[in-house]
Amino acid sequence: MRNFIPVKTGLETSILPAGQAGAEAAARILAAGGLVAFPTETVYGLGADATNATAIAHLYAAKGRPAFNPLIAHVADLAAARRIGRFDARALRLAEAFWPGPLTLVVPKTNDCPVADLATAGLDTVAIRIPAHPVAEAILRAFGGAVVAPSANISGHVSPTLAAHVESDLAGRIDLIIDGGPVAVGVESTIVGCFEAPMLLRPGGLSRERIEAVLGMPLGRPPVETESHDSQPLAPGMMASHYAPHATVRLGAQDVAPGEALLAFGPDRLPGQEAAAAVMNLSPAADLDEAAANLFGYLRALDARAPRAIAVMAIPEEGLGEAINDRLRRAAVAR
Ligand code: TXA
Ligand code: MG
Repeated sequence: MRNFIPVKTGLETSILPAGQAGAEAAARILAAGGLVAFPTETVYGLGADATNATAIAHLYAAKGRPAFNPLIAHVADLAAARRIGRFDARALRLAEAFWPGPLTLVVPKTNDCPVADLATAGLDTVAIRIPAHPVAEAILRAFGGAVVAPSANISGHVSPTLAAHVESDLAGRIDLIIDGGPVAVGVESTIVGCFEAPMLLRPGGLSRERIEAVLGMPLGRPPVETESHDSQPLAPGMMASHYAPHATVRLGAQDVAPGEALLAFGPDRLPGQEAAAAVMNLSPAADLDEAAANLFGYLRALDARAPRAIAVMAIPEEGLGEAINDRLRRAAVAR
């Protein structure tokens, strides 16, 4: 079910370069209940004061996001994280190994957790991360509290890896965009549920292999998601159709049909490629980290050519390939 909080459209959206003045403006706007988009190492986030339910309602509305889908609380350091969530020994080990970085931990809330219920969608757990980006860190420090931040795109659309992507989705709906240039990782954070058995809730910018090496055990898989909107899934954001360009997406392509665009990977050429509407290569050298960084920007760019479909070459299911394939499968779900 959608929420029907009216969107504040016609807002004057300022765009400021990264820097101290930008961080201070961002902190002021957050404190006043406003919405600020800023870069993290994974994707651009749309931030609101995590304790301000009205600001969070505006955030959901600006994105057109279903309110049952909870948000990640971003903090500057582990002390701030521990005021929000309870970390057992395993969660602490992951935090110490990978924060700041592209890892989100889902842990039980503290008794006096300040994050608004609207941001956690009524769950008794909370998702937390410390982003590894100087601009995000400067904003979090200047603001001094937790900031909830989903990806700064219209809900269901491809996540933004440039300030220009944020502007094209959200101009007129948010107060400020801080432009910190292109992001480094390019896919969202990996989400680990710190339950009895630790669980990979969303593959992302930190590979499963690196997490399992620190834990000394394999990560569990959440039970297969349901599309039911009134149940409370473990990883509620993981709806099948998500990260979607407008064009149809065809996976595992071994050739290119006339009028299709090709999203290539690696050095090989496909039959029919010369007649493609457009070709972009995620990584000619078949480097999965490079491919992740290029993924969303290239999907947007190919989509803008309005091709018959976007054909995507196969990508190995290892390292960040697991997150890339996860996003591509969601983009390929027929809508
Ligand atoms: O890289 C990222 O994580 C980016 C940047 C901006 O930090 N943020 C991001 O947020 O991807 P968003 O809102 O697009 O994704 C948050 C995910 C959703 O799938 C949501 O369901 C899940 O986190 N989530 C949040 N709280 C949860 C909880 N308590 N239990 C399980 N999943 C949770
Ligand atoms: Mg998102």
